Amino acid sequence: MRIVMLGAPGSGKGTQAQRIQKDHGLPQISTGDLLRKAVADKTPLGVKAKKVMDAGELVSDDIMLGIIKERIAQPDAQRGFVLDGFPRNTSQADSLDALLAGLTLKLDRVVLMDVDFEILMKRLTGRRTCSKTGAVLNIYFSPPEDLEACRKAGGELVQRDDDNEATIRNRLQVYDRQTAPLVDYYTKRGLLRTVSATGDVDAVYSRLKSALGLK
Ligand code: AP5
Repeated sequence: MRIVMLGAPGSGKGTQAQRIQKDHGLPQISTGDLLRKAVADKTPLGVKAKKVMDAGELVSDDIMLGIIKERIAQPDAQRGFVLDGFPRNTSQADSLDALLAGLTLKLDRVVLMDVDFEILMKRLTGRRTCSKTGAVLNIYFSPPEDLEACRKAGGELVQRDDDNEATIRNRLQVYDRQTAPLVDYYTKRGLLRTVSATGDVDAVYSRLKSALGLK
């Protein structure tokens, strides 16, 4: 199954994609994570991308397409994948279509994670990543035992550089301007399902699985 997760920053794309990966073996392909790795490794691409990401803008389409092409070609993606954070505009969506068509493949489903705007700011300012386990947590919403488990494992709760209020506001505007038009784009192609992504992670996961026809 080839799935695209669409949704505003903080809508829970990454959280839910990781659960699908764990339970159904479909790799989560997060362009944000791939870029953050390049930034951490200080590759030429990472150095270039950091400024753009810190401003909450989009990295150029040609760079993103190169990253996706390479990732989709990996052995673990041959059975399918969950794209988290790509495509981000209609040009990337067209490129993805062409890329898959060239491989005689197509998308099976696009899921829109639908959350009220006010919730997004709290989810994003509260997000922390465990430096030891990589678990994505939230100081407002995660069970205290999960936050404690990170500390017990010897990790620290780290905040993403772009999870500050000013950058979050810009990311949300960029989403509205550039990514939200994809809702129409995929509705017209008959691929879009909307999932209410408000409520706790388990409740959202169960709605998501129904939308995807997964057990
Ligand atoms: P990216 O990493 O993709 O960031 P994003 O789209 O802004 O999405 P987020 O990761 O912020 O949110 P999410 O929906 O995954 O939420 P999460 O599950 O973590 O991109 C970062 C940057 O990279 C971009 O700004 C851009 O510069 C660049 N980039 C990436 N892809 C690109 C592309 N294709 N083209 C160009 N540039 C690109 O959840 C958020 C928080 O909420 C967590 O703390 C989580 O624990 C919590 N949470 C999740 N679900 C729930 C729930 N149901 N209840 C309570 N809390 C919840």
